[in-house]
Amino acid sequence: MLEDASTTTNDGHVPSPADEDLGGDWNRVIGRRAFLRGAGVAGATALAGSGLLAAGAAASVDTPTAGDIAILRFLCAAEILETDLWEQYEELGGVNGGNSSYMLALENLDGDMPQYISDNTDDERSHAAFLNAYLRSQGAEPVNLDRFRTLPSSKATGAKQIGRLTNLMSLNVDTSWYTRYRGTKNPDFGAGFPQAVNIHNQPAIPLNDQDTPPGTGQPVPPTTRDARRMQAIANAAGFHFAFIEQGGSSLYTSMSLKASSLEVLRIIVSIGGVEVDHFAVWHDKAGNAVAQPLAGVTDPETGTHFPDLNARNSELFQTNLIFPEPCDFLDKGLPACSVIRPSTTQNSGAVAAVRALTADNLFKGQTPAFFRTLMRLAQAADGAHRTRI
Ligand SMILES: [Fe+2]
Ligand SMILES: [Fe+2]
Repeated sequence: MLEDASTTTNDGHVPSPADEDLGGDWNRVIGRRAFLRGAGVAGATALAGSGLLAAGAAASVDTPTAGDIAILRFLCAAEILETDLWEQYEELGGVNGGNSSYMLALENLDGDMPQYISDNTDDERSHAAFLNAYLRSQGAEPVNLDRFRTLPSSKATGAKQIGRLTNLMSLNVDTSWYTRYRGTKNPDFGAGFPQAVNIHNQPAIPLNDQDTPPGTGQPVPPTTRDARRMQAIANAAGFHFAFIEQGGSSLYTSMSLKASSLEVLRIIVSIGGVEVDHFAVWHDKAGNAVAQPLAGVTDPETGTHFPDLNARNSELFQTNLIFPEPCDFLDKGLPACSVIRPSTTQNSGAVAAVRALTADNLFKGQTPAFFRTLMRLAQAADGAHRTRI
């Protein structure tokens, strides 16, 4: 069967019943285009002439369904948003970063932080560019969020003064991923997890040079107000990096279960694996903010405190336990299994991702039209389901 019953339109909105026929027509059009490309026009003509171009022949082609396109369009939007946030981190703290104090504070987490930030940014750019190019190659509409690049940049030395999609200046970073991956429970069974650090309305990039003067040294532990402020900002970034990438790990896992085309499935699991790779590295680095010798920093402005989590003598907080603990999976009667979690649509699908990023304050200041657009794309992706065996 070629059509996905959860048809979505190429602008990502969830169709009304009246739209269904239009969506089906559109899906047939992109299916035919892709088939013609795959076979070559001359070959397709020859097949048509020989009477072999029957419906069954077309159905055997691995053409993306409308649901596949909806999945890829949401993932592309997510990658564009990821790129936007990572570019802000890179401008200030990447390998050619423009804010030396921020870079020093990040390097207190790991000397390679600027390199990792730049590489992660490159990866997100490549994900967004590839997904849009693939959508175009399938005759589907690419995703463009440029009209929403309206949020202000940081005024700190190093930041470009351009419109942004995302806001890193007042984040609520959910750090429950830290205890979730150390625990034996699975959120897909309803389990909840404590925060590792309470991070509310906290900048993860420097705001301006008055707040964090450029050229400030960053000793470990920080000894002045300015050094503590910048270290707390860098520490928050460390936890935010892992928050973003664990979300991507779960999102891609949940989307993979909905793909119908094997090629689309290959795209989802291949990019998703890189999100997992990013998460693993950031998980390790974030732990250095809450381990000696850096642990104990308090932000003088927000009060955000990064305690010594190893002092709790609990495996739920031990900083070097960065590999996922085996947990409940599928059925509690089966042995615990070390897996990405959550992976259900409800807990880690596209709508759940939008909700989590909104709660993160990542979109603080965005317009209602932005949220509407993103939620339509998300609902369409979550509405996709696998239609081929
Ligand atoms: Fe990505
Ligand atoms: Fe990512």
